[in-house]
Amino acid sequence: MAKKAKKSSESCVTMTELVLPNDTNTLNNLMGGKLMHWMDVVSAIAAQKHSNRIVVTASADNISFKHPIQLGDVVTLKAKVTRAFSSSMEVYVEVFAENIPSGTKFKSHSAFFTFVAVDQGGRPIDVPELMPETDEEKELYEGALRRRQLRLVLAKRMKPEEATELKSIFFDKTIGKAE
Ligand SMILES: CC(C)(COP(=O)(O)OP(=O)(O)OC[C@H]1O[C@@H](n2cnc3c(N)ncnc32)[C@H](O)[C@@H]1OP(=O)(O)O)[C@@H](O)C(=O)NCCC(=O)NCCS
Repeated sequence: MAKKAKKSSESCVTMTELVLPNDTNTLNNLMGGKLMHWMDVVSAIAAQKHSNRIVVTASADNISFKHPIQLGDVVTLKAKVTRAFSSSMEVYVEVFAENIPSGTKFKSHSAFFTFVAVDQGGRPIDVPELMPETDEEKELYEGALRRRQLRLVLAKRMKPEEATELKSIFFDKTIGKAE
């Protein structure tokens, strides 16, 4: 029996961390690996909330480190499921860094993670569909199919010629058509 669809808002998770000396490199900036760990944890919780299952990380999309986060900053991570497929879920995670004494706060990172819901034996298991509500959720939902195809092609789990949604980004169907 098909599982009842769930709203994106039902999987929302916010996690707050303080950057301590043990989290930093020798320049007193947050280590990239530590940040990726927090991103993995917060997005895994979102995927668990959507599926009510044990989940495993299948992939993490590109994460760029443009702005350093400093020792003593407060890091807020927000995650929610953007779309569910059969057993996999795409999760969008945003990271904000805040320096409380100076009163500054900025969005430092964002990324997409994919989690797969599994049974006790580690076998993939179906998850409920996701029902986007807001305009932002609808946009993320629409883009999720293209992003899924891109990551499956890169992981050699899908042939490029099968990635029809992805091809539509690069090829305008009207170009090259006979009059
Ligand atoms: C992820 C995992 C469960 C997939 O198992 P599998 O036997 O390959 O199963 P399938 O081929 O049926 O794929 C299951 C789902 O995973 C998705 N998937 C597999 N590899 C993926 C990847 N690299 N990126 C995104 N999605 C992926 C598939 O698209 C499929 O999604 P769908 O059911 O929604 O269509 C399995 O590879 C695994 O357990 N990996 C280790 C997970 C882990 O230990 N993570 C911690 C980080 S080291």
